[in-house]
Amino acid sequence: MSLLFRINLVLVAVFAVAATLTGLALRAVLQTNAQREIRAEAQLMIDSALAARDYTASEVAPLLHAQMQHEFLPQSVAFYAATEHFLRLRASRPDYSYQEATLNPMNPRDRATDWQADIIQRFRNEPGMHEFVGERDTPMGRSLYLARPIRASADCMPCHSVPAQAPPTLLARYGSNNGFGWQVGEVVGAQVVSVPIAHAEASAARAFGAFLLALATAFVALLIIVNVVLYTLVVRPVRRMAQIADRLSVGDYSAPDFPSHGGAEIAALGTSFNRMRRSLDKALKMLETQR
Ligand code: HEC
Repeated sequence: MSLLFRINLVLVAVFAVAATLTGLALRAVLQTNAQREIRAEAQLMIDSALAARDYTASEVAPLLHAQMQHEFLPQSVAFYAATEHFLRLRASRPDYSYQEATLNPMNPRDRATDWQADIIQRFRNEPGMHEFVGERDTPMGRSLYLARPIRASADCMPCHSVPAQAPPTLLARYGSNNGFGWQVGEVVGAQVVSVPIAHAEASAARAFGAFLLALATAFVALLIIVNVVLYTLVVRPVRRMAQIADRLSVGDYSAPDFPSHGGAEIAALGTSFNRMRRSLDKALKMLETQR
């Protein structure tokens, strides 16, 4: 096995181990980052919904107060505003969704689906739980969902307790069958946001691929450089010395001098060989003259 082959073998083995370890570590980091990114998006959506609710309650509802005597305007309802806000976002981002999933909603479009009802039930059973995160498959691909409980307070009772207490305009619009009978402190529903996982995972995969490509390119470049340097500084002069030594060993004294340039060690070896060759010459000549 040639020297270069052995060195290349060692380099490839070291690279394979190093690349595997770095690749595994990097993939773990990228995956964690992708998860964090997805969760941050979900948090941002929830915060944005809260901001839309707050804006409606503090700025829009007071303006509509007078008109509400004649007609109930859902635009004054904070929960309606947050849902509508995200319905518009869905037009451009169909894989993101926001719902105020409710077990007994006033507007039927807010009725919790089975999996959402399960989450609401968990919030009801575990009062200390403030957030629930999970993953599920959707027609738009796998997504992460983040849910927070919606709890009824005394402020909600004028409209959500019993129909008799609700404004007549509200009853005229929504009827008296849905969205009533809520209790103070009861978890009536959950804000549920869904964020696609695919985008963040695809960008993590792209980053991983780019890293592997860069690593492989750097390694191939290193391999070429090491081979060229080893060949010119070690392999070629050693081969040359072997040829010269071969010729001398069969008595061919026309062989040229051993090369004494190149790397310090190789040059020293060449010089030593040359000196040995001259000593040998002298010794042989002395032997011949004695005969
Ligand atoms: C002025 C009456 C009124 C008050 C007060 C009120 N709501 Fe509502 N709420 C409504 C109406 C009307 C809707 C339906 C809006 C729509 O068309 O989407 C609604 C919808 C909701 C929804 C969406 C699910 C559904 O029922 O359609 C939630 C959740 C909700 N309200 C929670 C609350 C909470 C919690 C409070 C108290 C902090 C509250 N509401 C106070 C009238 C009210």
